[in-house]
Amino acid sequence: MLRLEDVHVHFALRRGLFQRGIVHAVNGVSLSIAAQEIVALVGESGSGKTTLGRVSLRLERPTQGRVWFDSREISHVSEGMLKEFRRRAQAVFQDPYSSINPYMTVSQIVEEPLIIHKIGSRSERLAQVEALLEALRLHPVREFMQKFPHQMSGGQRQRVALARALILNPDYLMADEPVSMIDASSRAEILQLMHEQQKERGMAVLYITHDIATARHYAHRIGVMYLGSLVELGPSRRIIDRPLHPYTQHLIEAVPEPDPANRQRQRQVVPGEPPSPIHLPKGCFFHPRCPKFMKGLCDAARPALKEIESGHAVACYLYHQESLKEAKTEQVAAQV
Ligand SMILES: Nc1ncnc2c1ncn2[C@@H]1O[C@H](COP(=O)(O)OP(=O)(O)OP(=O)(O)O)[C@@H](O)[C@H]1O
Ligand SMILES: [Mg+2]
Repeated sequence: MLRLEDVHVHFALRRGLFQRGIVHAVNGVSLSIAAQEIVALVGESGSGKTTLGRVSLRLERPTQGRVWFDSREISHVSEGMLKEFRRRAQAVFQDPYSSINPYMTVSQIVEEPLIIHKIGSRSERLAQVEALLEALRLHPVREFMQKFPHQMSGGQRQRVALARALILNPDYLMADEPVSMIDASSRAEILQLMHEQQKERGMAVLYITHDIATARHYAHRIGVMYLGSLVELGPSRRIIDRPLHPYTQHLIEAVPEPDPANRQRQRQVVPGEPPSPIHLPKGCFFHPRCPKFMKGLCDAARPALKEIESGHAVACYLYHQESLKEAKTEQVAAQV
């Protein structure tokens, strides 16, 4: 459904007239999401998850690389060519207010995309809105349709934002931390609703989250990001039960007890200096913080993301047998 090919996103940092450096937000990510598949992206704050999600929706253009949606290249065509894509690809963001107008009623908010895309008559549209609010359990529906965003709880507002994204029956949904601003008690319900809708509609979903526990529960595959690159990608259970990359191992050890009130602590857990996307380390981006660092190898060139076992890929020299052998031979030669 969606294919990212060697995507890079760089932002120029300016102060006044001068360029102060370049932020390397995304550095060579390739990732495919199949129809009906849920892929979660996890990683520390600033690792480029949101930027990558925005590229997948053409809200951001890649500095380098390409994005394909249903076999059509979408990153380099003009906005005018994206009409169908704009209907088929939708998003839910962390803050529901970013996609809903506070001065519109729920009914107007959810109906609007249908009007924009000229779908159905007025009564058909309202019937669709009603059915969707019902499916998202915003009860009593008739009453909700007349409410304004400020008259609802955060969880209800996020469900309205979800309804607005789903009303066009998209094939792809990008959900960027959809529940991290919602109080803990309604998080599970919203994720459950998203999951139900995904199954019913057969959408592909990119689920961006800090919460590895929910990623494991909802996603088919998990991709782990570090400094704008994918360091590990594989089936969710495999990643959680047998993480290969030292960074993934850190992240998973740092998952606290299931009490969601403590989950925010995950944000700063990996020991060592937080990385700078302005001055990228040479070699593997993680090497300055890595407990398994191998001199002369990890600081020399970036390891590629390589498939180690079926569907499970990792970008780490520990698992690149040839590189390890070469390094050992060199060490022996140096000793001789
Ligand atoms: N428009 C922009 N201009 C300059 N730098 C940006 C811009 N957008 C993002 N960045 C930088 O790019 C890097 C990646 O940011 P991004 O928001 O994609 O990370 P993230 O993984 O989503 O983080 P978080 O978990 O905090 O949401 C960060 O260093 C961020 O400061
Ligand atoms: Mg983000």
